[in-house]
Amino acid sequence: MGQVISLAQQKGGSGKTTLALNIACAAIEDGMSVALLDTDPQGSLGQWFMRRRQAMDPGMSFSTSSAWGVAYECDKLRGQSDIVIVDTPPKVDADLRPALRESSLILVPVASSHLDLWATESVLDLAAREKRRSAIVLNRSAPRARLMDEVVAALGDIEAPRLVTMLGNRVVYAEATGQGRGVVEMTRAGKAAEEVRALWAEVRGMID
Ligand SMILES: Nc1ncnc2c1ncn2[C@@H]1O[C@H](COP(=O)(O)OP(=O)(O)O)[C@@H](O)[C@H]1O
Ligand SMILES: [Mg+2]
Repeated sequence: MGQVISLAQQKGGSGKTTLALNIACAAIEDGMSVALLDTDPQGSLGQWFMRRRQAMDPGMSFSTSSAWGVAYECDKLRGQSDIVIVDTPPKVDADLRPALRESSLILVPVASSHLDLWATESVLDLAAREKRRSAIVLNRSAPRARLMDEVVAALGDIEAPRLVTMLGNRVVYAEATGQGRGVVEMTRAGKAAEEVRALWAEVRGMID
């Protein structure tokens, strides 16, 4: 049976879709079968997938679902794939619950800003109410910035584990996305590819 990983965060632009597609590409590189499920009406993950289809054999499946259809879709996809990755809209409300409920792990990207940080607790609360495991992933980190230190310090007050792996703020993430690829599929994506593989290894360790 496959495992469902969802990306959730109230704040738009935190990196939900970027993490979803990059984790997917790292997982297929690792030999797993992957299904993507886009529940965001904006359809960014779907646009990425359609771009990918033009460029190559996508190597993974894609479907969309409304909030209420998530349980049914996940049941089906779990039977077909090792990993089901669910992208969600930038809001925390009753519509998010079905996706959280289906998840073995909920990843909450926090781009290094206070706005992201302030938006984080609501999704963690909802995950806790559904008794699901969640973990914060620092995204767009800039190791020597003071803001970054502040955000990391403030995260210490939040009761959710934070993944050791952080993703840096790197142009190659946007470049890869525009080509329908993940950074692990880009040539010369050195550090970005490394951190995404490390992220995947950590995530895999949590759902095994
Ligand atoms: N680590 C990163 N480095 C550089 N740009 C990033 C990174 N993560 C995300 N982005 C860019 O930030 C924007 C928002 O990311 P996205 O994944 O669409 O966020 P969300 O799905 O949470 O709204 C996109 O243009 C994306 O390419
Ligand atoms: Mg998105």
